[in-house]
Amino acid sequence: MKRAKLLKIPIRKAVLGLTPYNAPAEGRAKKLRLDFNENTVGCSPAVLRALSRITAEEMAIYPEYQETTKRLARFFRVRPAEMHLTNGIDDALHLIADTFIEDGDSVLVVEPTFDMYRFFAELAGARVAALRYDEEMRFPVDDVIRVLRQPAKRCPRVLYIANPNNPTGTLVKRDELRRILQAASHTLVLVDEAYFDFSGLTILPWIRRYPNLLVARTFSKSAGLAALRVGCLFGRPELLGVMRRAGTPYPVNSVALVAAEAAVGDPRFLRGYTREVLQSRAMLEKGLVRLGARIYPSSANFVLADFGPVARRLVRALDRKGILVRGRRDFPREGFVRISAGTRADTRKLLRAMEGIL
Ligand SMILES: Cc1ncc(COP(=O)(O)O)c(C=O)c1O
Repeated sequence: MKRAKLLKIPIRKAVLGLTPYNAPAEGRAKKLRLDFNENTVGCSPAVLRALSRITAEEMAIYPEYQETTKRLARFFRVRPAEMHLTNGIDDALHLIADTFIEDGDSVLVVEPTFDMYRFFAELAGARVAALRYDEEMRFPVDDVIRVLRQPAKRCPRVLYIANPNNPTGTLVKRDELRRILQAASHTLVLVDEAYFDFSGLTILPWIRRYPNLLVARTFSKSAGLAALRVGCLFGRPELLGVMRRAGTPYPVNSVALVAAEAAVGDPRFLRGYTREVLQSRAMLEKGLVRLGARIYPSSANFVLADFGPVARRLVRALDRKGILVRGRRDFPREGFVRISAGTRADTRKLLRAMEGIL
């Protein structure tokens, strides 16, 4: 423990070393938001209808999870005991750290990737060992396996893989994941499938095959419920049972439960939005290449583009036109911009604005 200068109370060393997460800026509501990979049309109308039926009495009762868990488990084709609801995937990452990471342990990430893996691991006092995607944005599968094959004492406690990865949009193939899981005898492997709807590749059924595998999903992306914070962790019942010991009693609020149930009850909306995004993504990839950017073929609802020296000016000029995209600083050099694919109309508007700037 260390004392911060102005505060008289001690603050954990791990906290003093943290850089706060760069969360979305305020005031995004009226803009074209292509910066945080959200759904750009909003959730299903069925969700709003379900929310409008919530009674005053229901609001006064602490959340109950059994029925919603059963319905969601049916949707994901798992048993209720193989699923744990969380306050978004962020909360799942917190729970993983609270359950498995001791001060001084190491964890493994392959960067650039979702910042919150590092954040929650460092908050728990872990040392983060980071491998990197190469210049072609290839996942270093052999290097990862080498780290996992070390003697038990030196193995990382947790390996975090976003699949598809954010911000590269790339996918680790099923066969590579199998090799990784076979090598990970002493490491918990989290496969974060936040963008599964756009890739179509899942290893969710493998939770029955690999005892140290956790798979995460979220309602924040295709389902358009980022505001409500609902996620799911999937794993063996024994694994989730241990994690529940470290969890808070009410991780998801009742309004979010109603919304999540209604969202899975409207699969046509989910399919329709996903189809729209896939068409929009193809249009975005083509348009970006036409504008001179190098792109990395994406399996998610965003595209990583390398605009080189004009990137910074481009991001600022788009912002002035009310279009938000995400300039990335987690690459060895500047120039990388991550752009969400919303609807085709969103992409047309974006590309037109870019043509006017470049
Ligand atoms: C790979 C990945 N995982 C998880 C999340 C966050 O999910 P949630 O909103 O459920 O916390 C994001 C959000 O951008 C993400 O990119």
